[in-house]
Amino acid sequence: MPVKVRKATTKDVPAITEIFNQGIEAGVATLETRVQQESDIMSWMENRDPRYMVLVAEDAASGKVCGYVSLNKFNFKSAYTGVADLSIYIGKECRGQGIGHILLEELAEEAKKEGFYKLVLNVISKNTKALKFYEALGYSLVGVYKDQGILNGEWVDAIIMEKFLIEK
Ligand SMILES: CC(C)(COP(=O)(O)OP(=O)(O)OC[C@H]1O[C@@H](n2cnc3c(N)ncnc32)[C@H](O)[C@@H]1OP(=O)(O)O)[C@@H](O)C(=O)NCCC(=O)NCCS
Repeated sequence: MPVKVRKATTKDVPAITEIFNQGIEAGVATLETRVQQESDIMSWMENRDPRYMVLVAEDAASGKVCGYVSLNKFNFKSAYTGVADLSIYIGKECRGQGIGHILLEELAEEAKKEGFYKLVLNVISKNTKALKFYEALGYSLVGVYKDQGILNGEWVDAIIMEKFLIEK
């Protein structure tokens, strides 16, 4: 499906809410277990430093939003200003079509323009599809947080990955 990537606006809140809740439903995508309301996502969107962007991919033909990616604060201490955490969710009907690749590559380009030199992320170890996806895009293993959360009554490990955006 040809997609167009653009910055998200508050008009995208219903679509982002639905897509994030599909991620919760997947059971391995996030340590958030509380189904989100549009008001939750609205406040997440409205209370962001614009440097920490949210991009959406929309179906170029219909305009329907099929996925989003966000940059999030890694750490509030000032020396971390060039490092951002990322989060990506593709709607369940749009997965496996290359849209995640397009969104994440675009995010890396935009993040570089904003002066970020490194992107980091956490992925639940059981989320093997996402692990493969990040590896294919050049993210490498940093380490593992053992028993980082409980999902459906079971301890889960979170894998930490990183990618440098610039040559050092
Ligand atoms: C993990 C996730 C972000 C990946 O995004 P995606 O759009 O499904 O991924 P892509 O389609 O870009 O790539 C995944 C696979 O599809 C393949 N693919 C790429 N273009 C394709 C196309 N046009 N047609 C079919 N398959 C394609 C890729 O080669 C890749 O295959 P591989 O894993 O064997 O290498 C997405 O599946 C998702 O949102 N999952 C649920 C939420 C989640 O787990 N988020 C991550 C939290 S850490």
